[in-house]
Amino acid sequence: MTKTDPTVLIGVTGCIAAYKSCEIVRGLQKAGVRCKVVMTEHAAEFVGPTTFRALTHEPVAMGLFDDPSDPIHHISLAQECDVFLIAPCTANVMAKVAHGIADDLLTTTALAATAPLVLAPAMNVHMYEAAATQANMGVLRERGVRFIEAGEGYLACGDVGRGRLADVEAIVRRTLDVLAEIGCVVAGEESATTEAVRPGGARFEDAGAQGDLAGKRVMVTAGPTVEPIDAVRYISNHSSGKMGYAIARAAAARGAEVTLISGPVALDAPTGVNVVRVQSARDMLAAAREPFAASDIAVFSAAVADLRPAHPADRKLKKGADDDALSSIELVENPDVLATLAAGKRAGQCVVGFAAETNDVLDNARKKLVSKGADVIVANEVGEGRAFGTDDNKAWLVDAQEECELPLMSKDALAEAILDDVLRRL
Ligand code: PMT
Repeated sequence: MTKTDPTVLIGVTGCIAAYKSCEIVRGLQKAGVRCKVVMTEHAAEFVGPTTFRALTHEPVAMGLFDDPSDPIHHISLAQECDVFLIAPCTANVMAKVAHGIADDLLTTTALAATAPLVLAPAMNVHMYEAAATQANMGVLRERGVRFIEAGEGYLACGDVGRGRLADVEAIVRRTLDVLAEIGCVVAGEESATTEAVRPGGARFEDAGAQGDLAGKRVMVTAGPTVEPIDAVRYISNHSSGKMGYAIARAAAARGAEVTLISGPVALDAPTGVNVVRVQSARDMLAAAREPFAASDIAVFSAAVADLRPAHPADRKLKKGADDDALSSIELVENPDVLATLAAGKRAGQCVVGFAAETNDVLDNARKKLVSKGADVIVANEVGEGRAFGTDDNKAWLVDAQEECELPLMSKDALAEAILDDVLRRL
């Protein structure tokens, strides 16, 4: 018997790849599938339930007793879905499902579900290859659970090997195949991975006008700037770009049209984001002018060099012959990208600056709020193992009225918190 308007329940577990579940939801929706999300508390450390609520227009379940109107929520979730896809699926959740452990809403729903179960694992290579994980996969396969194999490559933890969540496109396709296998007809007119090409040639993923930032333009600066001393040497800093890229990625997942002005970093362009790569502070200012003027929200997370060599040499300066030039480098001030652009801020535009401080974090952030002309400053403490280059960050959101302290969280989760805050201000 065929069924139209199928529902896929997407289980999201606590893994750095959790943000990709947003893209999976959008891909399935574009194909005409109704999506519901159930997530673990650990998943919410990476992506908030608000994001999934905005994307799916459905309540997002996390705790066993979340919905007082539905005391047996795990049963209704299990019964309502045609396919239960857990993506990303951590080693822990896979182990629980293999052994029938049901100690939260997601795993209880998995035990109660009679719909086909599809798992897309994502974890560290050693966890993936561990005998226990492989044995759990074997048990689940024997029971008819379908797997979407993890890919190989560079993993978030720094290891290289198998464990990356499979491509979003592959997960969406495989889920649609399973729906077709069980006789569900989907009515989407677009391919799950269609990209729209906008006037001017910039490529943005079709946001589907679903997220809470749909229709908004967001500009983000990220990464360091580099300021040449000569043809081979430069002044820069330790910014990896992770914070700014997380913000750009989160804004795009929530439906915004995003332009990311990025200093030199080793990160891939986030899906659906228009990336403009620059080198110096002056390049960054020039590249940011237009996107800033067009933006509803502008987030300045780049670590811009305050100073640059006044007379960069266009050849390599040599020890011995150029000792004078090398021993004393005259520096001049760079333009302040944030302060320059915020001076021309429009009514209704929200400008978010950052403050990277080693001491007196809140005092310095309050001063920067005024001197830079931002609406809010994300203040973070930097130093050994803090903020620069890390995957997590601890911040305070500082505005003219108050400061709100946030706990240490992943940069993806902080990006969501910053965007939630901005939405309240718009
Ligand atoms: O990139 P990651 O490794 O993920 O690290 C993240 C981060 C530590 C770089 C990020 O969280 C952060 O704090 N970014 C701001 C870094 C910084 O330069 O802060 P600042 O306090 O020096 O500058 C204050 C604000 O003015 C920032 O918004 C900065 O982008 C802006 N600025 C500063 C100088 C300048 N010439 N132009 C600017 O726009």
